[in-house]
Amino acid sequence: MKDRLPSCAHPRTPTYYIRTFGCQMNAHDSEVIAGLLEQLGYKRASSPETADLILLNTCCVRANAENRLYGHLGNLKPLKEERPDRVIGVCGCFVQQPGEQEKIREEFPHVDLVFGTHNLHRLPALLAQLEETKSRVFELWQEGERVEDLPVQRESPFRAWVNIIYGCNNFCSYCIVPYVRGREQSRRPEKILEEVRALAADGVKEVTLLGQNVNSYGRDLPAGERMDFADLLRLVGEVDGLSRIRFQTSHPKDLSSKLIRQMAAGENVCEHLHLPVQAGSNRVLAAMNRQYTREHYLKLIEELRAAVPGIAITTDIIVGFPGEEEEDFLQTLDLVEKAAFDSAFTFAYSPRKGTKAATLPNQVAPEIRMERLYRLIELVDTLAKKSNKRLEGEVVAVLVEGSSAKREDIYTGYTRTGKQVLFPHPDSDEDLTGREIPVLIEKGLSHTLHGKAVTGRE
Ligand code: SAH
Ligand code: SF4
Ligand code: F3S
Repeated sequence: MKDRLPSCAHPRTPTYYIRTFGCQMNAHDSEVIAGLLEQLGYKRASSPETADLILLNTCCVRANAENRLYGHLGNLKPLKEERPDRVIGVCGCFVQQPGEQEKIREEFPHVDLVFGTHNLHRLPALLAQLEETKSRVFELWQEGERVEDLPVQRESPFRAWVNIIYGCNNFCSYCIVPYVRGREQSRRPEKILEEVRALAADGVKEVTLLGQNVNSYGRDLPAGERMDFADLLRLVGEVDGLSRIRFQTSHPKDLSSKLIRQMAAGENVCEHLHLPVQAGSNRVLAAMNRQYTREHYLKLIEELRAAVPGIAITTDIIVGFPGEEEEDFLQTLDLVEKAAFDSAFTFAYSPRKGTKAATLPNQVAPEIRMERLYRLIELVDTLAKKSNKRLEGEVVAVLVEGSSAKREDIYTGYTRTGKQVLFPHPDSDEDLTGREIPVLIEKGLSHTLHGKAVTGRE
């Protein structure tokens, strides 16, 4: 893997630009892709226009992700025409769907390179093949073991993502992810700990353990090494130097009391849990194949709030699943209110080819899906504002990300509960980026908190 490509490919340092769609799994894959490219001697370009290699790392979880992708692909055509030696590549979840690579082959002749979610470690070999054969390279694997020890070019010097389990076995009836990411594959605990230790030694303060369902971690490990997610969380927590540990995503059917106790016990485990509920009606939950009831979910929330004081709970919700009646939707609103979420990602159901739900009768009309979505968003915003307002007057620890994109004189960062905080630069030349700073919250809005740094000198 460590072999370099012959550098004759480009007379000067080649450059790359990666555009990433979708979830953190994809964002982290892009960091690995960037790592592989940097190892080959590529440097990051600041725009597609200045790049020799342009890669789109794609998502297909909802139809709008796909529609946007086709737009982006079309936009790259003039860039290829302007410089035919430029390489245009497409990778990620979208291309793992049956028929999509043929479509790209036929309709987007300016795309030179296609690879998927199971063979991204093959990128150096595929680029070499492209260079050698001067013809398009399309390589997709239906499954594959993830290769360890790939280089990673991290986006942040103090926050890092660490994969602990790839793929998903749950087959929620609406979801394409198990089809494009394959079956569950837990990484060996010692590989995870090795990576986390190296990150901590490198100055990383916050680690997010990643998986489509982190709670099923370990079930597929060899007998002698078997452990569950709670055990892993304890071991990661013992690594010196980390002040914040996060993980996502959790599936309510697998969230154990043992894990809740471990969250409470681990001092550096953040007081935040993202626990997608998807729907509040038992009938719809069953049709979604979620394998829990609203009662079970609400009991988990109760247990979490009792065990971890001040915990923020966030969720994902889909409205307009096939067969969802107004009565079911009202149950969702009711559950959202009872759970008192800090925030929620809300989606109108989007049929995905190949999933069970796409073939169900009683698809809900698009305008009803949208109408329910707006009603849900209104409630979620009200609750978010309420929970943020409660923080007014409190001092919270903020891990500073840097200056806000819009305002140079404003810092942005996150609380342990995962809420975004904006505060003006205090009167000093010191750069606070990457530091954990106490901030007095003055205003809690529905999406952000505003405050001022407590410098201790006032
Ligand atoms: N593994 C995670 C995330 C999966 S995708 C989990 O289990 O929660 C992120 C979110 O997208 C899901 O939680 C779900 O709310 C939403 N989603 C997935 N498929 C969808 C579809 N077909 N239509 C609308 N939303 C969908
Ligand atoms: Fe999709 Fe369900 Fe797996 Fe999440 S748990 S990735 S929603 S199938
Ligand atoms: Fe999208 Fe793939 Fe993530 S479909 S949501 S990028 S796992």
